[in-house]
Amino acid sequence: MQQLDGRVGIVTAAASGMGRAGVELFAREGAAVAVVDIDADGVAATCRAIEAAGGTALPLVGDLTDDGFSREIVERTVSEYGGLDFFWGHAGHPGPAAVEGLDPALFDLAIDLNLRTIVHSTAAALPHLRRRGGGALLYTASTAGLAGSPHSPVYSMMKFGVVGWTRSLAKRVAPEGIRVNVICPGGVDTPMLRTFLARPDAPPRNMAADEMVAARGKLTPLGRNCRPEEIAATALFLVSDAASYITGAALPVDGGMTA
Ligand SMILES: NC(=O)c1ccc[n+]([C@@H]2O[C@H](COP(=O)([O-])OP(=O)(O)OC[C@H]3O[C@@H](n4cnc5c(N)ncnc54)[C@H](O)[C@@H]3O)[C@@H](O)[C@H]2O)c1
Repeated sequence: MQQLDGRVGIVTAAASGMGRAGVELFAREGAAVAVVDIDADGVAATCRAIEAAGGTALPLVGDLTDDGFSREIVERTVSEYGGLDFFWGHAGHPGPAAVEGLDPALFDLAIDLNLRTIVHSTAAALPHLRRRGGGALLYTASTAGLAGSPHSPVYSMMKFGVVGWTRSLAKRVAPEGIRVNVICPGGVDTPMLRTFLARPDAPPRNMAADEMVAARGKLTPLGRNCRPEEIAATALFLVSDAASYITGAALPVDGGMTA
């Protein structure tokens, strides 16, 4: 018996990194998954990989800064598969590193991708989860949503927001059998990690990109960065019945960094 047999789920930012590892794992565990991302080629490649492995995937290409698209992904998934059991709002954005002289367009983009999109998708998802008698909502914050980040204060503010949203919503919808949790990754070796490490004041400094990624991993107690598949395994646990008594949790997956 697979852990997500007969379930239907949606994952945003699913064409790369942790999101892609997540949809591939969920599909192997029996779920039909909506693969949401702005990268059309990446969505197509991800869906092909899922189908080649015998899974079921719905490609949904669009821009999650568009509130309408954030809601529409839910309706399109439900009309394809007849219901919804879980939603993982994984999309995010590093935002501006600056405080003084901050680029307002980059600030707005970070608000849209870290905060607005999950509110709109969640509002659309709730009635469908209720109709199934319960379900799971999952989000992605960061260790910067648990402890302050001097290199990315704007990002940190928004990820604290995602943690606050998770905890509040968890209490609000618990009586309806809907669980709400958030994963707080440390450094995960994806394209986004390179954006953070390229910030002029972020440690480690003055190295080529690959060297910086490896050096960043050595700063953690476990001595390496996280692999996207390790976040996917955590996400599978949290959306599955194995986590049936876990709600409102902000789980660090950070190699001991925030211990
Ligand atoms: N990589 C890390 O070290 C790290 C650490 C902590 C938290 N996070 C969080 O993880 C999440 C994603 O990270 P990742 O490392 O898996 O990313 P990634 O760089 O591998 O992938 C990001 C995906 O988002 C998609 N995307 C970008 N803009 C979009 C838009 N407007 N609409 C729809 N899709 C869009 C991209 O096409 C891409 O496929 C974010 O919430 C991020 O804040 C990352």
